[in-house]
Amino acid sequence: MVLTQLSLINFRNYTRLTLNLPPGPILLRSDNAQGKTNLLEAIYFLATTRSTFARAERQLVNWLAMERDPLPFARLEGHVRRNRSTFQIDITLLPGQQGTVRKEMRLNAVKKRALDVVGQLNAVIFLPEDIELVTGSPSARRRYMDATLCQIDTGYCRALAQYNKVLTQRNALLKQLAEQSGAAVPRSRDDDQLLFWDEQLAQHGALLIVRRQEAIAELGQLGRNRYRLLGDQKEVFHLHYAPSFDPQHRPLLDYQHPLSLEELLPSAQMPPSVPEVIEAFKRHLHQARREEIARGVTIVGPHRDDVHFTVDGVDMTFYGSRGQQRTTALALKLAEVDLMVRTTGESPVLLLDDVMSELDARRRARVMGMVDGVEQAILTTTDWTDFSDEFRAQAHLLQATAGQIQEVGTQHA
Ligand SMILES: Nc1ncnc2c1ncn2[C@@H]1O[C@H](COP(=O)(O)OP(=O)(O)OP(=O)(O)O)[C@@H](O)[C@H]1O
Ligand SMILES: [Mg+2]
Repeated sequence: MVLTQLSLINFRNYTRLTLNLPPGPILLRSDNAQGKTNLLEAIYFLATTRSTFARAERQLVNWLAMERDPLPFARLEGHVRRNRSTFQIDITLLPGQQGTVRKEMRLNAVKKRALDVVGQLNAVIFLPEDIELVTGSPSARRRYMDATLCQIDTGYCRALAQYNKVLTQRNALLKQLAEQSGAAVPRSRDDDQLLFWDEQLAQHGALLIVRRQEAIAELGQLGRNRYRLLGDQKEVFHLHYAPSFDPQHRPLLDYQHPLSLEELLPSAQMPPSVPEVIEAFKRHLHQARREEIARGVTIVGPHRDDVHFTVDGVDMTFYGSRGQQRTTALALKLAEVDLMVRTTGESPVLLLDDVMSELDARRRARVMGMVDGVEQAILTTTDWTDFSDEFRAQAHLLQATAGQIQEVGTQHA
């Protein structure tokens, strides 16, 4: 798919921008702090209705507008060509209650919920800080899984929203029980209440677990290819899903070893069915009951999952070299592109922020080669010469200066 036009009003340092974008590779250059990352963030926001960067959405609204305008707002609009049809997404950020921001979303000018907008435009973004996917905490990897799956599977997104709601309620009840645990509260009443929430949690959570398991298996396979193409041909990359409990009652795979059950016994990796996982989930909740009441929090479930990356059997989170960690994160993002193509039949818009500065000459050449195959890719750089003459000759060249963007002829780049 192709984002053919992007318009921004008061989004970050873009007070007013209208930009036409062609298919194929687009190279956006600027000095530091001119708006490269902000532009990619805007496109990603249209795809997911979320920012990967901002702590609060208020930060997305141009700060001068915030000070100056009585009713400050930001607006993003994208025109998208998908298959042979075209559509338009727009999102307006308006002041909400207590300093928050309210989002209004439209598809072809008809007001929609976020769920109906997410995934209309598909985008994959790679940022320098994505290395934290590998080096950071499990919560970063869970956020990644959720963001990736939500874009390609609305059922997943719905289950996730329900799961989080149920989790909050269940945690509130557990906290209350933890506080009362001194008092003599009849056990059966607690159990009745908890059983209700267990059921709900397991219903929604099981779907998350099954879908994550499938997606990680696929991403692992695709990532292995991408890693081989990007890095050292001989290194073998693996991705392992580590759920908070074993949904199949099998011993957890030993991810320290490159040849896991996955390869020795392909059938052992058959994903469990949703009903199987619901049962296993409830069993584990039952086993964890005493501890959960003591701690006042839910300790079993997909909100405690993790993912492990290994290269030649070595866990990249703990033992990877910087270069391996970067290549791992990039391979994962490119695998995500492949996964989206597989599931939606459409190539997502690929957004690569400052990808070259982190790679050696050979890897740079490989990135340029890969971008060739994508329907549309926007790459940012501070230096034209990070890209070869051949690449620049066939790319659409843009230059950003303080929230303005100009087209640049090849001869000036
Ligand atoms: N809400 C906002 N309103 C106005 N300006 C903002 C807002 N948020 C961020 N900015 C500014 O936008 C400018 C451009 O930021 P951006 O991250 O896009 O730069 P960049 O071109 O990617 O730079 P670098 O090469 O350093 O990565 C920065 O100076 C930043 O302070
Ligand atoms: Mg930047």
